Amino acid sequence: QLEGHDTFLHKEIHEQPTSLERMLSGRLDDRFATARLDGLGIDARELRGFRRVKAIGCGSSFYIGQLGASMIEDLARIPADAEAASEFRYRNPIVEPDTLYVAVSQSGETADTLFAVREIQRKGGCVVGLVNVVGSSIARECDGGIYLHAGPEVSVASTKVLTHMGVGFALLALLLGRVHDLSYADGARIVAGLRALPGQVQQMLDSEDEIAVVAKGLAQSPSSFFIGRVRGYAVAREGAQKLKEISYQHAEAYQASELKHGPLALISPQMPTVAIVPDDELVERNLGALHEIAARSGPVIAVTHPGVEFGDLAAERIVVPHGEVELDPIVLTIPLQLLAYHAAAALGRDIDRPRNLAKSVTVE
Ligand code: F6R
Repeated sequence: QLEGHDTFLHKEIHEQPTSLERMLSGRLDDRFATARLDGLGIDARELRGFRRVKAIGCGSSFYIGQLGASMIEDLARIPADAEAASEFRYRNPIVEPDTLYVAVSQSGETADTLFAVREIQRKGGCVVGLVNVVGSSIARECDGGIYLHAGPEVSVASTKVLTHMGVGFALLALLLGRVHDLSYADGARIVAGLRALPGQVQQMLDSEDEIAVVAKGLAQSPSSFFIGRVRGYAVAREGAQKLKEISYQHAEAYQASELKHGPLALISPQMPTVAIVPDDELVERNLGALHEIAARSGPVIAVTHPGVEFGDLAAERIVVPHGEVELDPIVLTIPLQLLAYHAAAALGRDIDRPRNLAKSVTVE
């Protein structure tokens, strides 16, 4: 079943271009420059009535929810945020009828997310699922949803399904955008951007050998920072999570803007920073944070787009294909999967079955 790969994680990372093509097939509507998401079971008029979106999920699914919220704010211009489902249900949440709740889960069986879904429904809210496993509890109990069609994910740490979740949010953001104020031209731009995604992911996978070299260096550091801003912050959180889970090296994600409010004290030649620096409106601000790190001799691995000028701010650079800014975070997560995989491989870890973790957490 490994089909020539040494682990399921590696196989699943490499399946992404094909599995993403499959997920997108039939869901892009060129005529109206929108997404076709029949499984949501919500018509355009009802969709227009939602004034807010809240994503809930656990672990990596929560981080992708954060990324999704920023896509929804970018494209639909309605307030959106994400919350850990494990916290949500314990704070007697205020459930509003004009909020669309999105439950995000690979397995569809995570207890914390399932109970949050029930709490929302008990209080009269509408919740849709972004779920991979067909017929799972969350998929069945939600009012509608978007199946991720990533195929089975065997490795305990999630990779390909998270990318599919990113695409699921992009489709939802496009649809919500088009029933609100997103122009036809911008809709068409996003449709074309989504169609280009599987090819961009493949391009990234083709750079695996270079990323493996960087990963071997990173594996030597017992601790590292991952930083990003806004869209890039969710990417940084997921990158740090993946490294922790499978290499057991400590990694902590911060908003690049927060570095100077405390964690800068830890920057030294022994503390590398993986910096997510997309070529977007925040690029200068991100470079500003790198100046602070360079001034304290902190080594930087930049995950970035072609053409961003670092001077001597980043010793290592991983260059990711640049598409539409709203969708770019999806592709930016791919090198972080490879970084974690190769760091864990260099340390001889049990990559598919990391210690203390289970694929599906069905207890609270
Ligand atoms: C990370 C990981 C976990 C899951 C989390 C939620 O690699 O696998 O953080 O993302 O336990 O699981 P699902 O998505 O099945 O609800």
